[in-house]
Amino acid sequence: MSIHIGTKPGEIAEIVLLPGDPLRAEFAAKEFLSDPVCYNRVRGMLGFTGTWKGVRVSIQGTGMGIPSLSIYVSELLRDYDARTLIRIGSCGSIQQSVALRDIVIAMTASTDSGHNRLRFVGMDYAPAADYGLLSTACGLAAERGHRFHAGGILSSDTFYQDDPDSWKHWAGFGVLAVEMEANGLYTLAARAGAKALAICTVSDSLVTGEALSSEDRETGLREMIELALDVAIA
Ligand code: HPA
Repeated sequence: MSIHIGTKPGEIAEIVLLPGDPLRAEFAAKEFLSDPVCYNRVRGMLGFTGTWKGVRVSIQGTGMGIPSLSIYVSELLRDYDARTLIRIGSCGSIQQSVALRDIVIAMTASTDSGHNRLRFVGMDYAPAADYGLLSTACGLAAERGHRFHAGGILSSDTFYQDDPDSWKHWAGFGVLAVEMEANGLYTLAARAGAKALAICTVSDSLVTGEALSSEDRETGLREMIELALDVAIA
């Protein structure tokens, strides 16, 4: 038992997929895994373990934002020996070339969060994806004909900004999309010597103001979950 995950070591696989939404963890586990077992209900942050193509995989909700994700990922790394962690999320495009439903594979994640300023006492750390996971994800996405982009994203602490144009500054430096967690995941995995990757589907565009319908969200979600599962066991 850890504080936020109510199960014994051994009940969680070395490979963990990490959606922000706990109901997505349930959807992914029930739709994709064989024999899924729910191992966590503490605070409603559902977690499941099952198998994918014969390999044990867990799917754990993280909640939204770096602070919430950091709680779950810290406990998964420290108390449950997670070694391969793949975030499956959604993001908002901040480039014209990144369209709704595209997949964004994050090579790195900038942030406006203060968490690494605390950790690195004011110095800057550059969190990066695990190269093996990154290159496998890009290879499989290309093979499957997915529209995807590999590059930098922004993990923001704020979904609603006072300045609605604040994303333009990041866009000017080639950042592809904004979400709220990857920078924390990459930092914590690096600290523990574990592998991490963030894969996100584009659910909305800050450039055009469009957003996906719930039906399109689900199709995009299925493609991304299958991609992440295959990357994890490759
Ligand atoms: N901002 C932050 N996180 C997000 C967004 C967004 O526009 N879209 C999906 N996740």
